[in-house]
Amino acid sequence: MTTSIKISPSILSANFSKLGEEVISLEKAGADYIHIDVMDGHFVPNLTIGPEVIKELRPLTKKIFDVHLMISPVDNFIKDFSNAGADIITFHPEATTNVANTINLIKNEGKKVGISLKPKSKIDLIEKYIDQVDLILIMSVEPGFGGQKFMPEVLDKTKKIKEIIDKKNLKVEIEMDGGINFDNCSKAKEAGVNILVSGSTIFKENKGDLKKNIEILRTN
Ligand code: DX5
Ligand code: ZN
Repeated sequence: MTTSIKISPSILSANFSKLGEEVISLEKAGADYIHIDVMDGHFVPNLTIGPEVIKELRPLTKKIFDVHLMISPVDNFIKDFSNAGADIITFHPEATTNVANTINLIKNEGKKVGISLKPKSKIDLIEKYIDQVDLILIMSVEPGFGGQKFMPEVLDKTKKIKEIIDKKNLKVEIEMDGGINFDNCSKAKEAGVNILVSGSTIFKENKGDLKKNIEILRTN
């Protein structure tokens, strides 16, 4: 059986002066999820948006809001992002003092839990939590900025995670985020990824033809 590939466009590459229209366009173009990158200028060296913006976007689409929190400490903000309309809340294990507790905070909100590994973060950091989460987000660039170059060295780690998931017969999804383009997307899929995040490729290739770019990433 072939896995169905989901595309989660990152609005980090959208035009922030018309974010609502951009989200509506992504839905029309066939996006599966909407990837929302939240940065605090502390966990990562960049700042983006907070729960208020997500709350304003929420009524515009029924698409799943795939919220990637790059903020530390993360626990105090989970309720805010949940109330704002996040569907999946993904955090980095380095952003909490107690990973199990953070997982429970998200679950108690009735939201799906994602846990993310930076390119240099080892599987050990998350291994014992794999059966408690819905999604593992593997960063293929250093978190902080869109438009960076894909780091192929994360593919091995991805394959190992996929093996663990399959061996345990779990339904955990694997998402890859950073530098995904029309060439490397097939390598990510081969490694076991079923959700591709993409900012620059979706918003900039083919003169910003969102539909075409989503389709190429899905099928290449
Ligand atoms: C980086 C973000 C990514 C990024 C992806 O910290 O998590 O979601 O925006 O953008 P591209 O596809 O341009 O690398
Ligand atoms: Zn992201």
